[in-house]
Amino acid sequence: MPQRTGERERCVTGIDGLDTILYGGIPRANTILLTGSCGTGKTSLALEFLIHGALKGESSLFISVTENSEKLLANIIPYMFFDKSLIKSGRLVFIDLPIMYERLGMTKAELDMEEIDLLVAAIAGLAKELGTKRLVVDSITSVCYKLRTSEKIRDFILKLSKALSDLDCTSLLVSEVAAGATSYSMFGVEEAISDGIILMANMERRGDLLRTIQVIKMRGTMHSRAKYVLDLTPVGVLLVPLLKGGSTG
Ligand SMILES: Nc1ncnc2c1ncn2[C@@H]1O[C@H](COP(=O)(O)OP(=O)(O)O)[C@@H](O)[C@H]1O
Ligand SMILES: [Mg+2]
Repeated sequence: MPQRTGERERCVTGIDGLDTILYGGIPRANTILLTGSCGTGKTSLALEFLIHGALKGESSLFISVTENSEKLLANIIPYMFFDKSLIKSGRLVFIDLPIMYERLGMTKAELDMEEIDLLVAAIAGLAKELGTKRLVVDSITSVCYKLRTSEKIRDFILKLSKALSDLDCTSLLVSEVAAGATSYSMFGVEEAISDGIILMANMERRGDLLRTIQVIKMRGTMHSRAKYVLDLTPVGVLLVPLLKGGSTG
């Protein structure tokens, strides 16, 4: 594969197959939509992205919206690439967004425009304080349910991406879609305004249920658009090209 040295500095994900597809990694400071249906491995991949960053000394932040972060942590401890000292040293930080909502007094089911600004400022403020270089929101879809209108979703994601990009932070926004959905996001807005889209899916093949991953778009770099098979293993996420009738593609 030809090496393309870049106009844009890269955030090396540490997931080998993915870095190869992206010609060296995600262009730094991009905001990426990591999308797919339930069980396709989004949370696992996002966690591994943060762990690799933290291992390299980059401050990494996981903002959990749906799952309790303690439970998440219990799930990753057995993995061989995980090192508990990353948490103790503060290089890998977990925050539960519902706690943040509570602290900000956002108790209503729907956030208004003013509260959106407040929430963006709170997340960006935390990222600034921690010196965050890699951030995950799992999931952005759950936040979108609190915003409800396309206009507010657009406003929130654009403001958040801008604030994080200004901090030179590379972000993965996890998006939940129904299996078989034709859109890359629940509300349709998320996909239009992100710098990149990584799609994860389940695929049945000769009786096996495979997980697949595909980079749909990525601003700032060339990339493969081929579908790869993804394997979740104790040593992390492994990617292999999907074999199509004997040839790779
Ligand atoms: N490293 C791993 N090795 C084996 N199985 C894993 C690993 N990581 C996750 N899994 C399994 O894969 C499933 C889906 O992973 P998850 O990342 O939670 O998907 P999603 O966030 O897309 O719903 C989980 O049920 C989990 O048991
Ligand atoms: Mg998940």
